[in-house]
Amino acid sequence: MRTVAVVMGGMSSEHEVSLSSGREAIRALDRRRYRPVEIVIGRDGSWLVDGIRRDGALEGAEALRGLGCEIALLMLHGQRGEDGAIQGFLETAGIRYTGSGVGGSALAWDKIAAKRLAATLGIAVPGDLVLPPATADDVERELGFPVFVKDPCGGSSLEVRPARDAGELRRAVSDLGARRLLVEKAVEGREITVPILDDEDGVPRPLPVVEIRAKGGFFDYENKYTKGVAEEIVPAPLPPPIARRAAEAALAVHRLLGLRAMSRSDFILRDDGTPVFLEVNTIPGMTPNSLLPKAAAAAGIAFPEVLARLLESAGKGATMGRTWNVSSGRSGGRSTGSSTAPTAERSSS
Ligand SMILES: Nc1ncnc2c1ncn2[C@@H]1O[C@H](COP(=O)(O)OP(=O)(O)O)[C@@H](O)[C@H]1O
Ligand SMILES: [Mg+2]
Repeated sequence: MRTVAVVMGGMSSEHEVSLSSGREAIRALDRRRYRPVEIVIGRDGSWLVDGIRRDGALEGAEALRGLGCEIALLMLHGQRGEDGAIQGFLETAGIRYTGSGVGGSALAWDKIAAKRLAATLGIAVPGDLVLPPATADDVERELGFPVFVKDPCGGSSLEVRPARDAGELRRAVSDLGARRLLVEKAVEGREITVPILDDEDGVPRPLPVVEIRAKGGFFDYENKYTKGVAEEIVPAPLPPPIARRAAEAALAVHRLLGLRAMSRSDFILRDDGTPVFLEVNTIPGMTPNSLLPKAAAAAGIAFPEVLARLLESAGKGATMGRTWNVSSGRSGGRSTGSSTAPTAERSSS
């Protein structure tokens, strides 16, 4: 029996979605193997640990220790949940966590970095310009319209804007107001996503490809989280060689970025069968309405088993370290390096 901190909420725009993912996980965890403790990170950065408010991450982590939590099941999405920040915090604190490590999370989180790396594998990516140094005039001249304007470190379509002309482009640029913007040529085709999940032996395997048919042709926030607005087809009705090609591309990205346990890569499938890579998510949605759990179910892997695989892959290797004991200063003698086991990630660097 292991005590698992199910961490949800967070400081990102995806706070609410993360709460559903986390609560669903608590409901589904196999109680014969795991004892869940609910951790809700507030929008203000406070931690609610098993119903008791702690002022921040330091006190929250200390409370986890007090409750005997051996591992954190990260059900956080977006900024400071999926971008490597909490991963680095937990690693430094010597608390094991599920999913990708610091470096893999950060690379996947940055859409520019991820697509540049994917392109080195020969995977097709949309043509793009990065602003600055490129300008809106360059976009008009070199890419043409329509384009998608993205905060490269945004999340959940809240930071993605389609633009059909120069006016919309300028509006999108000023709305997003990010330090760097990724402007991508719109790719025509079907929208697909490929979830990856570790098998029982900890080897990453593609789950069935999912096709998303959104109303309005743009998979936006409402579509993503409102049941029944977008149609999701699992497995996607595709000729097997085309599905395989997309699955191989997603697996190659997962491996190259050193991702762990799970990921979900989004593509536009062109009419000629080429999957064009958009982005990879390291903690995709885990609500009943989410794509990875649905694809897992289609492959005969029930939701509790999905969670067990995440926990097992995080549980491999070293025991929980006591590298950083905030309140008492009794930092145990274990070395920082052995406290967690980001094996996949390190092997890629
Ligand atoms: N270059 C593109 N061509 C066509 N559609 C795109 C393109 N970029 C984004 N989209 C659409 O916008 C959605 C959100 O973009 P994505 O990069 O996956 O960001 P996020 O999922 O983080 O919001 C995609 O699922 C897709 O429907
Ligand atoms: Mg996406």
